[in-house]
Amino acid sequence: MKRCLLLPFSFLLLVGGASAAPAPSTLIANIGGRTTLSLNGAWRAIVDPFDNGKSGFFRNEKPRSKSDRVEYSFDASPVLNVPGDWNTQRDQLMFYEGTVWYRREFNYRKREGSRAFVYFGAVNYQATVYLNGEKLGEHEGGFTPFNFEATSVLRDGGNFLIVAVNNVRRPDGVPAMKFDWWNYGGITGDVSLVEVPATFIQDYSVQLSRGSQNAIAGWVQLNGSQPAQKITLEIPEAGVRQTFVPDAAGRASFRFTAKLDLWSPEHPKLYDVVLSTATDAVHDEIGFRVIEVQGTQILLNGKPIFLRGISMHEEAPFRGGRAFSPEDSQTLLGWAKDLGCNFVRLAHYPHSEHEIRLADRMGLLVWSEIPVYWDIDWTNPATLANAEAQLRDMIARDHNRAAVIFWSVSNETPVKPERLTFLTQLAQDARVLDSTRLVTSAMNHVDNASADVRTLSDPLGNALDVLGLNEYLGWYGGRPEDGDKMQWKTALAKPLIVSEFGGGAQFGRRGDADEIWTEEYQDNLFQHQLPMLERIPNLAGMTPWVLMDFRSPLRMLPGVQDYHNRKGVISDRGERKLAFFTLQRFYKKLADAGK
Ligand code: GCU
Repeated sequence: MKRCLLLPFSFLLLVGGASAAPAPSTLIANIGGRTTLSLNGAWRAIVDPFDNGKSGFFRNEKPRSKSDRVEYSFDASPVLNVPGDWNTQRDQLMFYEGTVWYRREFNYRKREGSRAFVYFGAVNYQATVYLNGEKLGEHEGGFTPFNFEATSVLRDGGNFLIVAVNNVRRPDGVPAMKFDWWNYGGITGDVSLVEVPATFIQDYSVQLSRGSQNAIAGWVQLNGSQPAQKITLEIPEAGVRQTFVPDAAGRASFRFTAKLDLWSPEHPKLYDVVLSTATDAVHDEIGFRVIEVQGTQILLNGKPIFLRGISMHEEAPFRGGRAFSPEDSQTLLGWAKDLGCNFVRLAHYPHSEHEIRLADRMGLLVWSEIPVYWDIDWTNPATLANAEAQLRDMIARDHNRAAVIFWSVSNETPVKPERLTFLTQLAQDARVLDSTRLVTSAMNHVDNASADVRTLSDPLGNALDVLGLNEYLGWYGGRPEDGDKMQWKTALAKPLIVSEFGGGAQFGRRGDADEIWTEEYQDNLFQHQLPMLERIPNLAGMTPWVLMDFRSPLRMLPGVQDYHNRKGVISDRGERKLAFFTLQRFYKKLADAGK
């Protein structure tokens, strides 16, 4: 049995300051490039509000005789689709927070000398995984992938995989008790059985080294009993063929130069990259680009870039629920492209690998974030370990994606010493885990120097490469017109992204510009916000809140919100509000001006 969380070495130094990053990830990279058996589909499911199943549901018992008393039956239980949240699959589960037991039976033909892992794209929130009655491991965190080795437990022929999923919120959780999105529970990501050789290529990083447009630097990690196998890295289209010999731990680092066609939103060039050893080979599609900060500017491939963005949740368009399919991603990112975006802020948790890989192909830059959201248990070592593990695994899954340029370690967290220590640790971890990208956070701690001047003055900014500001002038305070005189500043001379601004509107509710919940009110707010933001000297980008209306337990106004946050510029049924077109025109103006 493997538990996916350890007391972090860093906690011991929480009082003493920065330290080493968390234990290396055990994640297998690039599942799409491996031999896999998909376990998606209809799983039998038992809803267990009182956690009664802990006594033995994992054994998948069936009565052995007519007098045998077994008080549960997966065979007789209804199904839930995987991937998918349970809330939108059954009305009576819409508000359910508790445990659900899932079972998937499958046949497997064992291959001599091979190993097998069960891989989960995401399970919200806590997962306990059993195969053929044996516990494989536990995982905490609703949005990052995990895998457990199953080689010794797997049978030739019939197998049964059982997962106990619990989405009950916890004060020491990440996120904790309160957040402005629906707590969709279930196996929300793809599930697959991954078959690999006895010694296989577990993970690798093949990226341009920070600040260089032709030096590829990285590493390959082998996993298995014969780690000293020669590794070959090929990028056929760029005429690259390199070989390395790993150390005794199966790790090889490398650095070499190559002439490359750089990735950018206008030209999302991806190369076929092949890693191979005597026993294994993995293909991946990788783009090469450089992202840096120079003063208050963000440079992509050495040139200043303005990030025309939008914030978005991983809410499924039209049907609602946790988005999970390539089609969902195609619709959502397609809408961002229609807006004229070259950038998306994926809030407030890692979105699916489908979405990130699609952003790579579509040429959309990405802000990726872990759900350290509002207030959490800052002084609890288990909470820090949890946040560090989510950060580590977010980076482990996506560190070869050119589209991803920002790791965000938090959103709108209260300014206090223990929080600063916690988040500074995460920012350090991110840099140790990945030196090629920028670290940021969405902050909202502002000094009102005077009625018309507001300064972002959060001390967390010192630990970041790029500052994120959430401001809701004209919605959670003031009137939209106040933007005309408002001057925003930052205490630090760093690039600023206004990571949230906006207001709610119900699609089709029309009226005067000062009539709340109308499209006109929202549009009027945008009309005053955009020129206000343009006046900020170190503004390097923006991601208005939000692409599409999304379900939230905090939004209960009947006939208007109906448990939806209505700040989308598009409704949850894909209807474009007035503000969509205002933002689209603004981004067209910027793009035409070369911004
Ligand atoms: C916050 C928060 C979002 C939330 C938004 C809102 O700033 O970051 O998660 O949905 O404001 O109030 O609509």
